[in-house]
Amino acid sequence: MAVITEINDLKRIYERRVPRMFYDYTESGSWTEQTFRENTSDFDQLRLRQRVAVDMTGRSTAGKMIGQDVTMPVALAPVGLTGMQHADGEIKAAKAAEEFGVPFTLSTMSICSIEAVAEKTTKPFWFQLYTMKDEDFVRRLIERAKAAKCSALVITLDLQILGQRHKDLKNGLSAPPKLTAKTIANLATKWTWGLQMLGTKNRGFGNIVGHVDGISDAADLGAWTAEQFDPALDWGKIAKIKEMWGGKVILKGILDAEDAKMALKVGADAIIVSNHGGRQLDGAMSSIKMLPSILDAVGDQIEVHLDSGIRSGQDVLKALAMGASGTYIGRAFVYGLGAMGQAGVTRALEVIHKELDVSMALCGKRVISELDQDVLLVPKDFSGDWR
Ligand SMILES: Cc1cc2nc3c(=O)[nH]c(=O)nc-3n(C[C@H](O)[C@H](O)[C@H](O)COP(=O)(O)O)c2cc1C
Repeated sequence: MAVITEINDLKRIYERRVPRMFYDYTESGSWTEQTFRENTSDFDQLRLRQRVAVDMTGRSTAGKMIGQDVTMPVALAPVGLTGMQHADGEIKAAKAAEEFGVPFTLSTMSICSIEAVAEKTTKPFWFQLYTMKDEDFVRRLIERAKAAKCSALVITLDLQILGQRHKDLKNGLSAPPKLTAKTIANLATKWTWGLQMLGTKNRGFGNIVGHVDGISDAADLGAWTAEQFDPALDWGKIAKIKEMWGGKVILKGILDAEDAKMALKVGADAIIVSNHGGRQLDGAMSSIKMLPSILDAVGDQIEVHLDSGIRSGQDVLKALAMGASGTYIGRAFVYGLGAMGQAGVTRALEVIHKELDVSMALCGKRVISELDQDVLLVPKDFSGDWR
C-alpha cells in the first residue's frame, strides 16, 4: 500500500483507478480554466507567520459550523456524480465524514439518492439544492430532504446555467458512461472500478430517476437537466424556498459583496464564498481574493464560509485566518474517494487535519478561535486595486 502523505498522492492514485471521463469531469474548470487555476495559486500568495516559544499543548481544531460541532471547520462540498467516482460514492463519503465529525453535503445531482444515503448513515447530513423550473419537483425534493432529517439546505446560486467545460463535451460525459469505442478502451484498464460498479444498483441520478414523470434513462436525463435548471431564479424565489424548508439555509456561490448583502436580507444562516471550484464563470476572481470584501460587507452579521481551491490544511488555516468561519473541500475528497473509497476520504480528512493542526501550532495558535490575520503575511495588493 502506498504511503499517503498529501492530497496529491491521492490524486495520482485516483487518476489511475477511475475512468478518464470522470477524472476529467473533476479536474477541469470552465473555458480557459483561469479561475480554476487561480483558486489554488492565490492561496500560495498568502504566507504564514512563524512564531516560537508559545505553549502548544492542549491544541484543538474543533469548532462549529451553523451551530453544529465539527472536528475541524471543513465540510465536504456537494459534488455531482460522486457515485461514479467510486461505487456508492456518496454513501462512502458520507460515512467517512460522519466518522470524522465533519458535515457531508449531498448534491441534487448525486448518484445515490437522499434516502439511500440516509439509510446507511446515522447522523444528519446537509442537502444541496439546484433550483429547477419544475417547482413541484423542487417541493418534493425538499420534502424528501426533510423526511431524511437533513440538518441544512445548501442552495447553490451560481449554476442557473451550466458553465462550459470543454473536456466533458469532448468525452461525452454521462452517468453511467455510454459505451463508445473510446470509453470501452478506457474502461478496460479500470477493471476494479468496473467490478465495484457492477456490485451496486446505484448507477443513475438517484434523486431524479423515478421521481420525475417520463425520466427513465440517463440519456433523457441529460437533456432534462440542461432544460430544467431554473434561469429565472431570483432573490424572491430564494426567500420562498427558505420558507418551504423552514430550517437552516446556506447560500452557496456568493462571490460579490452586493450579493452577500442580499443573502443577509433573505435571512440565510450562512453563505459560501465560492466560484464553484472555477467551473462556472471563468475569469471570475478566486474565492480567497474575494473573501475580504465580503467579510467587510457582512462578516459581523452572518457566518461566512469559503470553498474553491482548498487542497491542504494550510489552505484551510489561511481561509480561517482571513476571517472565514468554515471551509469546504470538493476535489480534495473526490481524489481520496476515487483512489481508495471510504478509506480514501478518511485519509484526505486526516491529511488536512494534520496539516491544519501542525501549521496552527507552528504559528503559535492552539485553538481555531485564536486564528486571525495575525497568523498571516498578506501581500499589500492581495485583493488587487480593481474598479
Ligand atoms: C466534480 C465536481 C462536481 C460538482 N458538483 C456540484 C454540485 O452538484 N452542486 C454544487 O453545488 N457544487 C458542485 N461542485 C462545486 C463544489 O461544491 C465546490 O464548490 C468546489 O468543488 C470547490 O472547489 P474545490 O474543488 O477546489 O475544493 C462540484 C465540483 C466538482 C469538482
